[in-house]
Amino acid sequence: MLLPSVQKILLGFNPDRENFLPASKKINEVFGYISQENLYHLARYFSLSPAEAFSAVSFFDDIRIKPKPNLEVKVCMSTPCELNGAKQVLQEVENFLGTKADRNLNVKLEVKTTSCQGRCQRGPLLVVNGNIYEKVRPHMVDELLAGYFQK
Ligand code: FES
Repeated sequence: MLLPSVQKILLGFNPDRENFLPASKKINEVFGYISQENLYHLARYFSLSPAEAFSAVSFFDDIRIKPKPNLEVKVCMSTPCELNGAKQVLQEVENFLGTKADRNLNVKLEVKTTSCQGRCQRGPLLVVNGNIYEKVRPHMVDELLAGYFQK
């Protein structure tokens, strides 16, 4: 598949600042993340400083500023999920994978805590490579994650 250039994507948007976020999401969708170079193009196109552009895109969980890892695990840590045991689920995830959440030191593996994903009644919520697992209990984590190493 031939990827459109960033310039081509940007020209699809009026350079008003209100279009910065939709354009950022489009670039994120097409390339899988927003590279430093593309962030610079975005900033210039919307007349923002690189720092303003970085600050804006890094605020959103669904916009990546580095390439996607092979395994991306997200644990919702908002209050309803936490009250249902998300802390224990996260601990099990960290133990199984041998890494701490939100450190992002490994380019192939990323464990993140997230805010509410809108499924509070079904928590604790675990999202692995975009697949959503609801009502996760700590004893389920090892088998669930091990499945991703067999694929
Ligand atoms: S609190 Fe976890 S999905 Fe809402």
